[in-house]
Amino acid sequence: MPPGLPARVTEDAARLKKRLDGVVSTLRQADLREAARHYPQAGGKAVRPVLTLLACEAAGGDPQRAEPLALAVELLHTFSLVHDDLMDHDEVRRGVPAVHVQWDMPMAILAGDALYALSFEQAARLAAYPGGSGVMMDLATTARTLCEGQTMDMAFEHDWPELATYETMIERKTAALFALSTGGGARLAGASDNIVEALATFGLRLGLAFQVQDDVLDITSDTETLGKPQGSDILAGKKTHPIIAAHGKATPRERERLEHLLEKGPGQDEAAWVLDLCERTGSIAESQARASELFEE
Ligand code: IPE
Ligand code: IPE
Ligand code: MG
Ligand code: MG
Ligand code: MG
Repeated sequence: MPPGLPARVTEDAARLKKRLDGVVSTLRQADLREAARHYPQAGGKAVRPVLTLLACEAAGGDPQRAEPLALAVELLHTFSLVHDDLMDHDEVRRGVPAVHVQWDMPMAILAGDALYALSFEQAARLAAYPGGSGVMMDLATTARTLCEGQTMDMAFEHDWPELATYETMIERKTAALFALSTGGGARLAGASDNIVEALATFGLRLGLAFQVQDDVLDITSDTETLGKPQGSDILAGKKTHPIIAAHGKATPRERERLEHLLEKGPGQDEAAWVLDLCERTGSIAESQARASELFEE
């Protein structure tokens, strides 16, 4: 946890992670259980479930009420990480080998599926609460939206989207879950529709900013801080925010080279050229500015 967060937030995160481990530990097959516990045990900021409790409280509710949703969103997030690393061919997450590396592909598929199922088990505990069935429906809608976003993300390995289309993609793969985390917390507080809507919009904008910042960090931060290799998006040919922005600002010749390198998968030296292009065109600064703008919104 970064310094400067209120103790309350770090305590919430620690408690939720303990509860989450208790839930995942109920899996009855040892390999599946350990594969599903692998990322939670390695760390994670728990930003989404903490937002759920805070949103519930901000909307005038007892945050305790929102705990099943907090666990459900973190379980859904963890599921998405396990399958995302498989899809992105990423081998390290939270400083440990990816689930599909430490075990294998079938186990990563199963561990992801089990986490997904556990998410809905937690959400089902909300059935008796006022607003609970609406939140369960929102969880299902968010899960399908995340799949739609990840499908767009995969398609962008071969297409060059406009920045607006990229933002639709990240709204679906990342921001929708943030919107559920905050909007759902408010709904469980029994807040009025306009307050639920306002907190959902807050989460959505925060989630968009978060994903653009994640794209920037992949380029600018070091492997140790990231807990995953620096530049892995470029090496994987991903059309992230700074890459699309650089594409828009490059000369026709540079653009052609960029398209060629990302399509074939650049080597280390070629990735360094892509990074240099991002710096020269000012695309990293542009992406950072867009993240700040979304955050301010
Ligand atoms: C990673 O999310 C996936 C993205 C949406 C960028 P986090 O950065 O919240 O991952 P953990 O849970 O803290 O590891
Ligand atoms: C995050 O996408 C979205 C989901 C995991 C659903 P990324 O592929 O950018 O996430 P990282 O960078 O691997 O954490
Ligand atoms: Mg990834
Ligand atoms: Mg991905
Ligand atoms: Mg990323």
